[in-house]
Amino acid sequence: IPPETFFALIGGEPTFRKLVAEFYRGIAADPVLRPMYPEADLGPATERMTLFLMQYWGGPNTYSQERGHPRLRMRHAPFRIGPAERDAWLGHMRRAVDSVELPPDQAATLWDYLERAAYFMVNTMDDI
Ligand code: HEM
Repeated sequence: IPPETFFALIGGEPTFRKLVAEFYRGIAADPVLRPMYPEADLGPATERMTLFLMQYWGGPNTYSQERGHPRLRMRHAPFRIGPAERDAWLGHMRRAVDSVELPPDQAATLWDYLERAAYFMVNTMDDI
């Protein structure tokens, strides 16, 4: 019996699609974060984030087939991510996690990772 992945446990691809779509709805309306996204269309960025998170949690490895090794800190180096950007990002992600209405233990597992990852992505402290 294959071990059940967290990806499968929380509902597989549809859950991740809903989560990230909700997150990017917030980004699209955010005056601080929206200008950081280089493309006019947030669709491709939505797809990259969705595929990354699915892969991270044990789903298909399409992200790496398309993008290679994640190396997320390196990929974020061109963007100025201070505490304000991190907290804005986490605010949208918090609403997105709430929107998929997972059981509390699963929501906490997902949130703990996203919060730690967001702190890890900070690359400037010039704000403070
Ligand atoms: C890409 C901002 C945190 C995952 C990007 C992009 C921006 C950005 C502007 C470029 C858009 C694109 O080309 O996809 C931020 C900010 C963060 C943050 C302001 C605040 C802390 C995170 C975290 C994760 C993450 C915590 C993972 C849990 C990704 C992924 C991509 C991406 C997977 C696409 C990488 C690629 O394949 O090129 N981010 N990000 N980001 N971000 Fe973030």
